[in-house]
Amino acid sequence: MNTRLLKVDPEKPDMAAIEEAADVLRKGGTVAFPTETVYGLGANGLDGEAVGKIFAAKGRPSDNPLILHIATLGELKLLVTEFSPSAEKLMRAFWPGPLTLILPRSRVVPDVVTGGLDTVAVRMPDHVVAQLLIAKAGVPIAAPSANLSGKPSPTNAAAVWEDLNGKIDVVVDGGDSGIGVESTVVDMTAEIPVLLRPGGITLEELRVILGAVHMDETLRNGGERPKAPGMKYTHYAPKAPLIVVEGSQPAIHAVLEREIKKHQALGRCVGMMATRDTIQKIRADVVQELGSAADLFSIAAGLFAALRSFDNSDVDLIYAEGVSEEGIGLAIMNRLRKAAGYHIINADEQM
Ligand code: TXA
Ligand code: MG
Repeated sequence: MNTRLLKVDPEKPDMAAIEEAADVLRKGGTVAFPTETVYGLGANGLDGEAVGKIFAAKGRPSDNPLILHIATLGELKLLVTEFSPSAEKLMRAFWPGPLTLILPRSRVVPDVVTGGLDTVAVRMPDHVVAQLLIAKAGVPIAAPSANLSGKPSPTNAAAVWEDLNGKIDVVVDGGDSGIGVESTVVDMTAEIPVLLRPGGITLEELRVILGAVHMDETLRNGGERPKAPGMKYTHYAPKAPLIVVEGSQPAIHAVLEREIKKHQALGRCVGMMATRDTIQKIRADVVQELGSAADLFSIAAGLFAALRSFDNSDVDLIYAEGVSEEGIGLAIMNRLRKAAGYHIINADEQM
């Protein structure tokens, strides 16, 4: 398949390019497009055959359901049978934005979108290119992250191209995604809402609106049966083994120093992804800066690109510095621990 690349400047969107991409979607094709979280791989969410192409291109397991993306609240009524006053409060507070709600599905939603579940995931992205594309297509757009299954989500068009060139119809290049981690997923069908995936909207923000929100503990420590089907698969992993070092910063520095020297003495090439402070103190062979520990949003924005970059180097193993789980830190640590297959060193316990 010949994949077309269409550039669309979010500051001055080229409507001819948007039309062209929307037309591909209407005709049952696949289009990767930017959102404020990560790039998505879209298809007409009401056309089961079109949605099947997403699973084929990504190599995604068919029991892992997709999010339907809408441009206006009016589209929601078609997709769900009901929503609670709490769900409505969240929509008012955070849509458009990086929040996905799990709601009871209507019959128009094809089984291939929901993996056969009786619920459907819906979100309204806060990105002008995504909004124009969905509106022009005139249908809800089913879209997972636009990466090969198992790889870190793409935060720019180059990363999409690397994974999906030749496998999809169009890539719309709208520059870097802003937030860098995926949307927060909340199950609104339970009595008390349940956080299924931490993301761009923080747990603290949800609690301000809802009061109580339960959290699936497997989000922190892995475990057997996460409730969002997608959370059970290996994800985000670079090719080289990744180890997350967590704890207070002095303890992290001591452990990194010791472990990196140990592996270098054995002739290994060691990678490190860490905050600016740490990079100034600790040496490694290949280094990716994660931003500043004082600004967790800067770390989220560069996280997946940093993970991906090690695949183009010769590292034998990679150490990642853990950060605080406050705010968007919960999403950062969820992704890092998954990427590491829960290979974690607690530095404080080693002091
Ligand atoms: O930010 C995002 O959410 C990006 C952009 C493109 O919108 N999309 C994204 O999609 O991350 P994906 O497919 O990579 O992740 C969707 C997550 C998965 O963990 C999936 O299992 C969960 O949402 N999910 C989807 N439908 C669900 C449902 N009915 N019940 C529970 N979890 C569901
Ligand atoms: Mg994904």
